[in-house]
Amino acid sequence: MPSAIVTGATGILGREIVFELAKNPSQWSTIHALSRSKKADYPANVKHGRIDLTGDVNKMAKDLEGMEAEYVFFAAYLQQDTEQENWDVNGDMLHNFLDALKLTGADRKVQRILLVTGVKQYGVHLGVPKNPMEETDPWLRGPEWPPNFYYRQQDILKEYSERSSWDWVVTYPNDVIGVAKGNFMNATTTLGLYVAVTKEMGQELYFPGSDKFYTMFDCFTDTRLHAQFCAWAALEPGAGNQAFNVVNGDVESWQNLWPKVARRFGVKIPEDQFAKPSTEGGRAKMQDQPPLSAWAKEMGLVGQTAQSMVEHRIDLVRWSQREDVKKAWERLAEREGLDQEAFGKETWWFLGFVLGRDFNIVVSMSKAREFGWTGYMDTWQSLSETLDELEKLKVLPKSK
Ligand SMILES: NC(=O)c1ccc[n+]([C@@H]2O[C@H](COP(=O)([O-])OP(=O)(O)OC[C@H]3O[C@@H](n4cnc5c(N)ncnc54)[C@H](OP(=O)(O)O)[C@@H]3O)[C@@H](O)[C@H]2O)c1
Repeated sequence: MPSAIVTGATGILGREIVFELAKNPSQWSTIHALSRSKKADYPANVKHGRIDLTGDVNKMAKDLEGMEAEYVFFAAYLQQDTEQENWDVNGDMLHNFLDALKLTGADRKVQRILLVTGVKQYGVHLGVPKNPMEETDPWLRGPEWPPNFYYRQQDILKEYSERSSWDWVVTYPNDVIGVAKGNFMNATTTLGLYVAVTKEMGQELYFPGSDKFYTMFDCFTDTRLHAQFCAWAALEPGAGNQAFNVVNGDVESWQNLWPKVARRFGVKIPEDQFAKPSTEGGRAKMQDQPPLSAWAKEMGLVGQTAQSMVEHRIDLVRWSQREDVKKAWERLAEREGLDQEAFGKETWWFLGFVLGRDFNIVVSMSKAREFGWTGYMDTWQSLSETLDELEKLKVLPKSK
């Protein structure tokens, strides 16, 4: 029976990998869950260890002493202010961790290392990508593109793999739906709190993002499905040395999800929510040339790949700082016995970004399916079950 090491064990994606492997003790004997903090109680086959991946390699090797595993899942992430810093810090964390595994000798037992990255692979943080996004799409390298830390991490992984006996898998999830406490990007908890506080204030539910995006398409990743994918890809012989998009398998749109969200919480969407100009919103330009421009000549789209925008009807960062909003949260949290810190820890900028882009985001699952992956999750089911879980954790009030 193999063992596993999971870094980023308290993160939105890593946490679920730990729980998915732990569910199957006849398959996974021991799961070493690593992070700086410990935020959950674990089943008996999980051993939590503290490690700082930004620390010195020798210190890290000491923390890893006696830890061995056939499969390693790297889901640690430390968000930085600039793409260059993300490149430096997140690249170094992986690099130093692999060096530490070599120092302890644990790497000799490793058979496969799985790295969790994301759909920023295709530049969705820079503007409209080529849709649908496919794993064979060329990387956006060169002076016209900012550094992308996923490229550095993948290069490191391949370089180390060539000198070792293990192979690798990389995942590209998008707009993740899941549960985590105090992490860097958490769209679902933030969304749930926006709706719950709006309801507490007795107001109608405006879509805070872009009116254009409201009727466009997006693909989401449920963290439980992503974790199942990771467990499958670790053990699937043919998946070695491959990168895979990992999304739910449906294509969704807020025109479909928003009314369901409103019904779940018992709030009303204004019939003409986009009719009047917003006074609480904002617009920000993305990169001059969007990723799609790299394809323009080949596709016959020269002159048609304008700069993308992030647009908000309600700027959620400013909204969350309003005194009336904070008071409504305090009232709601007090009355319903909720985790008082939840509101202040939320990632308002991230939800604004997820809802504010003015372009479609369609992620192909063809490659994973060709390799034998059959997993699927309906996105509304994923969202509503995650909101239910957040109720149980006392982050959101009871909706019924
Ligand atoms: N969240 C999303 O919506 C999303 C979407 C697509 C792709 N992704 C990508 O998925 C990957 C994983 O991100 P995530 O969102 O799951 O991250 P996350 O929820 O913010 O969690 C980050 C994890 O890394 C650990 N960590 C941070 N600094 C560390 C350090 N110095 N030493 C050891 N552990 C450290 C954290 O634990 P401690 O703080 O306890 O150490 C935590 O467990 C990233 O590449 C991210 O870009 C995320």
